[in-house]
Amino acid sequence: MRRGIAVIGTAALAMTLVACSGGGGGESASGGAESDGGTSTGAAAWEGDDSEVQVMTWWESGSEKEGLQALQKVFEEKFPDTEFVNAAIAGGGGSQAKQKLAADLAAGNPPDTFQAHAGAEMTDYIEAGQVEDLTGLYDELGLDKAFPQDLLDRLTMDGKIYSVPSNIHRANVVWANPTVLKDSGVDPDAVPADIDAWIADMEKIKAAGYTPITVGSAWTQTELLETILIADLGADGYNGLFDGTTDWASADVTAALEHFATIMSYTDSSLYAEDWEPAMQPVVDGKAAYNVMGDWVYLGLTSQGKTLGTDIIEFPVPGNDGVYDFLADSFTLPVGAAHPGGARDWLETISSKEGQIAFNSVKGSIPARSDLSEDELAGFSDYQREAMDSFANDTIVSSIAHGAAVSVTVSSAINDAVMKFAQGGTDVAGLQEELVAAAAGIG
Ligand code: GAL
Repeated sequence: MRRGIAVIGTAALAMTLVACSGGGGGESASGGAESDGGTSTGAAAWEGDDSEVQVMTWWESGSEKEGLQALQKVFEEKFPDTEFVNAAIAGGGGSQAKQKLAADLAAGNPPDTFQAHAGAEMTDYIEAGQVEDLTGLYDELGLDKAFPQDLLDRLTMDGKIYSVPSNIHRANVVWANPTVLKDSGVDPDAVPADIDAWIADMEKIKAAGYTPITVGSAWTQTELLETILIADLGADGYNGLFDGTTDWASADVTAALEHFATIMSYTDSSLYAEDWEPAMQPVVDGKAAYNVMGDWVYLGLTSQGKTLGTDIIEFPVPGNDGVYDFLADSFTLPVGAAHPGGARDWLETISSKEGQIAFNSVKGSIPARSDLSEDELAGFSDYQREAMDSFANDTIVSSIAHGAAVSVTVSSAINDAVMKFAQGGTDVAGLQEELVAAAAGIG
């Protein structure tokens, strides 16, 4: 991957080993011991029943499940007296889980902790008063010193932090089959400079009889769209979509949507109902050339015996060079959770060095902590070391499809608009109108 201009993230590197000041927990296996809570009055929200923890994620199958299992193993070692209850709901990107979660939260029947994305996605839950403020737990576990400032900034809402990240993923990656590319007369080592050059390559691939690019269900199409917006608007222009400085109705956005329409014309519509793994499979099987997906793909490849760099190659979406399209999985303590002590144990586990190393080394993501030593990072793949470097040095932008940039309400509306377009229900002008309407819900 070529490097971009270093803009933010370097402060993260200055972090040193976390000092577990004050309260309990930290890196030691405290066996579920109660902490002093970090507040001066009364019990902290995370004190209480720690007999079990019900963990709601969408890591229910395939490679995602393996990642969760790695985390569960560390949890059971650290907290042998707390039962881990897996409440995972299938559906990549949380496509099914978020609906069930919304219903459970509304009914006052929350899990003990749930997966969400750091950033704007948390706003729905915060505004509805459905999640506890965890700022005191950050003090207690020393997390304010363990995570890089860029990430802390994205986690902080009105001076408070409501979730604990387990990992950082990158969304703007092209996964490509080099054999298909060569067979189509496209040089696998020559990354197209921009979207137009990429489209020219897709034309050659189509002429050679392959599917140029695959996408699956709505959120995977939104992920493709966001990377085209990044390419065409640039990082600043893309960021402006969320702070009001870039107009969703502008001609620049129209041009990006025209690119999106062209690229969608090279996809196989029979995959539009599929989750990300089946949508990626034709690339793995040598039937299609490209898929744009986050780096959770990594484990799915290795567990199929594929080697990254040989069987499958990866590069930033053309025009995204030097830009890291960021998302972080982050866990919460819902208001009214039955086992807040169990949730605390879980949050300690996922944020601990052991938890972050065990989970991320199989999940394909990078640790959210920035205080791991070279020795502790030794087991990470070349791809992940590159991603860490990129996160520290590239320009960071926030993913739409994975909740870093927008709330669940807005991303759902964008998914609906994109899917309607994919199914032929509207044209580029109609898509843009619906995106403008969806974006009205931003901030
Ligand atoms: C994202 C999540 C990733 C991965 C992906 C595919 O939303 O952050 O960890 O699970 O969905 O399901």
